[in-house]
Amino acid sequence: RLQAGVNIPDWYTFPEVLAEMRRSYPPRDRQGFTVFFTGLSGAGKSTIARALSTRLMELDGRSVTLLDGDIVRRHLSSELGFSREHRNINVRRIGYVASEITKNRGIAICAPIAPYRNTRRDVRAMIEPLGGFFEVFVATPIETCEARDRKGLYAKARAGLIKEFTGVSDPYEVPERPELSIDTTDLTVDEAVQRILLKLEHEGYLR
Ligand code: PPS
Repeated sequence: RLQAGVNIPDWYTFPEVLAEMRRSYPPRDRQGFTVFFTGLSGAGKSTIARALSTRLMELDGRSVTLLDGDIVRRHLSSELGFSREHRNINVRRIGYVASEITKNRGIAICAPIAPYRNTRRDVRAMIEPLGGFFEVFVATPIETCEARDRKGLYAKARAGLIKEFTGVSDPYEVPERPELSIDTTDLTVDEAVQRILLKLEHEGYLR
């Protein structure tokens, strides 16, 4: 208990100092964290996210939950479309679920397109006070995504059959300071996962 007349040092009251103290204790490997993938359709988010989940389950004692874009839309956001408003609701829902997992010291892996910078910033702000937040920009260029066109969606979007298609007729705002950026054009899935694991380990997230 502080007594009257005891001087509290100036630095102690700085909000940044308090936030940093909260972030660094308990150590990162004893907190939960979220890996948040963002990138165009077909960039490789889901494939890398699935492989990363499997590796983390093998390596780490914490529970791992995958919140993939397509799957979340089927189960949690089935009434939503792809307007800016609906995408933002969808991404905030994913963020909320990830924040609960992070708070309870699990690992959440999210893989939506999440095209808007502000919404990604809000999700980060929701999660960072509760644990780690690690944003991975899957920076595969649209030419590569479109050449792959695994689901045939780019062809439909170009033909005008799908409206508001990200990168074709809808915006994607490139992340300014992601924790990691990965272009899958010349990278195998294993190599991409390895890069993420190395960075997570380097930053003290893994056990
Ligand atoms: S968002 O913007 O974060 O809410 O999008 P997300 O929930 O990740 O859903 C993206 C998947 O939906 C399919 N799809 C579309 N994507 C973009 N724009 C439009 N208009 C669209 N319509 C359907 C598409 O299969 C996306 O899956 P991925 O895995 O990204 O290819």
